Amino acid sequence: MSDANRVPRHAAIIMDGNGRWARKRGLPRTVGHQRGGDRIHPVALACARKGIEYLTLYAFSTENWNRPPSEVAALLHLLSTKMESVARACLRDNIRLTLVGSIDGLSLESQQKVKAAIDMTAGNNGLTLCIAFDYGTRREIARAAERLASQGAVPAAIDEEQVSANLYTSGMPDVDLLIRCGGEIRLSNFLMWQAAYAELYFTEVLWPDFGDGDVDEALVEYARRNRRFGALPDGASS
Ligand code: IPE
Ligand code: IPE
Ligand code: MG
Repeated sequence: MSDANRVPRHAAIIMDGNGRWARKRGLPRTVGHQRGGDRIHPVALACARKGIEYLTLYAFSTENWNRPPSEVAALLHLLSTKMESVARACLRDNIRLTLVGSIDGLSLESQQKVKAAIDMTAGNNGLTLCIAFDYGTRREIARAAERLASQGAVPAAIDEEQVSANLYTSGMPDVDLLIRCGGEIRLSNFLMWQAAYAELYFTEVLWPDFGDGDVDEALVEYARRNRRFGALPDGASS
């Protein structure tokens, strides 16, 4: 049922378009990534104020390792430094910072920084801001299968709940609204299990330009959608 006040419990954003944002200004792509990183806390705060409980942001995909080594190095460095400053801002705003994916590809020093940032906000109970880093659904599902097998799961007893419980996102609700900025109309291996019934929203706005007004627009569109989950619309059964 559509309802103008309905807000997603879990929103997710593919933060795309940093490179094009920089290119348009004659700047290096890495400047686009820095500006993109600066949008993380303001957008999280805007979502928290709207009553969203979980926000998952796609920061680095399992496929992004295919980029030139210099860009990969810049993105890895940006993550560890940005997590620290985002955590400080989140601490003040009662936002809990978490991560899905893997930080194994980071240096030990960077891993420590990321862990410290996550620990800093562990006591908060407002919006959960989840950064998807070195994340890809295909690897996530393969990993869940491996985990179930190594736990000695009984094949006939493996159900959707057990698979969910072994994903990186275990304990989080399904994605209700999935936003992609930057104009591409694809999911790029992001939360494909969790967003099986999400409302999809695509915008041309490049991530470094994504602001409170863009959050509002996506939420207005979300509230207009009629979510049926395979059932019939209200009043259509006769
Ligand atoms: C998104 O911006 C950030 C990452 C994928 C890490 P892009 O770097 O993909 O920017 P475009 O798509 O080239 O503009
Ligand atoms: C998706 O963007 C990954 C992130 C935003 C982190 P990409 O720019 O890497 O995706 P493709 O290559 O357009 O599918
Ligand atoms: Mg891109």
